[in-house]
Amino acid sequence: MARAKISIIGAGNVGATAAHWAAAKELGDVVLVDIPQLDGVPQGKSLDLSQAGPIEGFDASIIGATAYEPTVGSNVVIITAGLARKPGMSRDDLLMKNTEIVQAVTRQIAKLSPQAVLLVVSNPLDAMVYVAHKVSGFPARRVIGMAGVLDTARYRYFIAAELGVSVQDVQALLLGGHGDDMVPLPRYTSVGGIPLPELMPLERIEAIVKRTRGGGAEIVNLLKTGSAYYAPSAAVVQMAEAIIRDKKRVLPCAAYCDKEYGVGGYFVGVPVKIGGGGVEQIIKVKLTDREKQLFDASVQHVRDLIKSVKI
Ligand code: NAI
Ligand code: 2OP
Repeated sequence: MARAKISIIGAGNVGATAAHWAAAKELGDVVLVDIPQLDGVPQGKSLDLSQAGPIEGFDASIIGATAYEPTVGSNVVIITAGLARKPGMSRDDLLMKNTEIVQAVTRQIAKLSPQAVLLVVSNPLDAMVYVAHKVSGFPARRVIGMAGVLDTARYRYFIAAELGVSVQDVQALLLGGHGDDMVPLPRYTSVGGIPLPELMPLERIEAIVKRTRGGGAEIVNLLKTGSAYYAPSAAVVQMAEAIIRDKKRVLPCAAYCDKEYGVGGYFVGVPVKIGGGGVEQIIKVKLTDREKQLFDASVQHVRDLIKSVKI
């Protein structure tokens, strides 16, 4: 049986590290693509990673390219192409520039891999996944944004560290956009099956929620020259694995919601069943009035962001 093909567009920090996780998990063959001006870089990273194969014991073909032909017939395409915000650049400048990039990338992908599931990572995430959906013309279930897996991983890590327990035993849910107003849900967070509010005082939970909301900025402030990439790449590869291995994982993803949660046709973070077909179900959970209020505010920010998208 042929191996699955995973194309990763953008061979920068997130893209190259995603290639690493995907190869190490033997998810399939990997194609790493960047712009022609960086010719040699995706090829060099791919060759280097291939040479880790005999040490780590993974069999995968890993190819670097600055053109799209090698991506033909991909099963999953991970889009990490884009700029990070630089000094002097407004959020709107970033939105415009990355919209252009994601548009151009998506056109190529849609042409050469019309059956692929697209996993979008580029920021501003909630707008870029919207752009990829519009431009590809793919059914919404095959276009998914990565944010919730990362944001819940940060939240789960902080909880595990505070309680001194295994990260494996912390389960959590988080809704909304990938911004400071994301909505971690302590009522839907448990440790070994025990609801979090029974294990931690409210003020500690609130402090962890606050740190989670600022989790991306905390790393930018430490790194100074870029943003997080180990956890973001692991997060998107977990989603790719759920699709390639048809695992039907229940993960928080930026999925297209219309009537669901009353969103009205935008991509926002909600719990989804993710498997071979992409988003196979959006799972509805009951929210308290306060949780609903926070979720609605986050969704409103996503709508406002998308108003400035010109495609
Ligand atoms: P990076 O700067 O290390 O890599 C981006 C790569 O994209 C560069 O190599 C660049 O040459 C390439 N690129 C630019 N235009 C391209 C095009 N038209 N075609 C192909 N490649 C192109 O940045 P990094 O750290 O890898 O982040 C990538 C994106 O992911 C950023 O927009 C970042 O904000 C976002 N991000 C999103 C997260 C999320 O939770 N959704 C988490 C972490 C990063
Ligand atoms: C993060 O949350 C920058 O969106 C990116 O780390």
